[in-house]
Amino acid sequence: MAVQWYPGHMNKARRIIKETMSDVDLVIEVMDARIPASSENPMVAELRQHRPCIKILNKSDLADPAITEKWLEYFDRQQGVKAQALSVLDKSRTRNLPNLCRKLLPDRGTAVKNIRVMIMGIPNVGKSTLINTLAGKTMAKVGDEPAVTKVVSSAQHRITLDGNIVLSDTPGILWPKIENENSSYRLAITGAIKNTAFDFEDIAWFAADYLIDAYGERVVERYKLKQCPESGFKLLEEIARKRGFLRAGGIADTQRASEVLIHEIRNGTLGALSFETPEMIAKEMVDIDT
Ligand code: G4P
Repeated sequence: MAVQWYPGHMNKARRIIKETMSDVDLVIEVMDARIPASSENPMVAELRQHRPCIKILNKSDLADPAITEKWLEYFDRQQGVKAQALSVLDKSRTRNLPNLCRKLLPDRGTAVKNIRVMIMGIPNVGKSTLINTLAGKTMAKVGDEPAVTKVVSSAQHRITLDGNIVLSDTPGILWPKIENENSSYRLAITGAIKNTAFDFEDIAWFAADYLIDAYGERVVERYKLKQCPESGFKLLEEIARKRGFLRAGGIADTQRASEVLIHEIRNGTLGALSFETPEMIAKEMVDIDT
């Protein structure tokens, strides 16, 4: 699947974030719990250097809890990292984050030494929602459209939270670094890539193949099938027929079925789903290297 990632924007974002890093003590990287590896940006490690990092597996309300547990263990093994599963729509849990920041930097967070925090991540993972929840009011844009946000370090762009945590009101936006072609599909399935950038049927086919393997029973139940179809394409055909999406000559309209499937994955109708596990990613990375 061809995806254009605007390397110019990526370089600009890196430069701006690098310039402001001297004013940052702790980084919060927001990722999508359904696709932690695909929504992570390895540049965060390069940019933060020795600074501690909280990796938030956000949208955990939409992700498979057993797989999220595996990812938490995986990230917690990384140097300087504390991973946390969260739904930033849950305001009370989200507002506990400053406590975790203080735990990671016990010598700061006092009246004398603030903890300066920067939130980073790829588009659409929930950065703006997180900032707005922590600030208790609308500070940053919340939306679906990827954009480069200029990270500004001046005082007027900082929000002081309780206990001397100081947060930049604009997130550092990074683009996904896609080394693994499957990641571009997973980003598209979960909505991190704009709908116009891909062919719906192509990504729905990928999603359907995966769902049959990983969540066959749920597929059977949701679409009231007698048995799990043997391929993703057959699943799309079955959905089309069940919904009466037929073209001339009674041919199943798999394009319309694709739109239904992707919509139902994204809005949680198929239940909490994860699209990658640490084991899958390890295997895919070996396959890429060989
Ligand atoms: P960004 O700044 O990283 O680009 O992401 P943003 O906060 O704009 O969030 C992107 C979308 O993800 C928003 O939905 C937001 O409501 C949703 N979202 C953020 N965090 C969570 C979460 O923990 N769980 C769930 N289920 N959704 C979350 P949207 O499609 O723009 O619109 P809407 O859902 O607000 O209508």
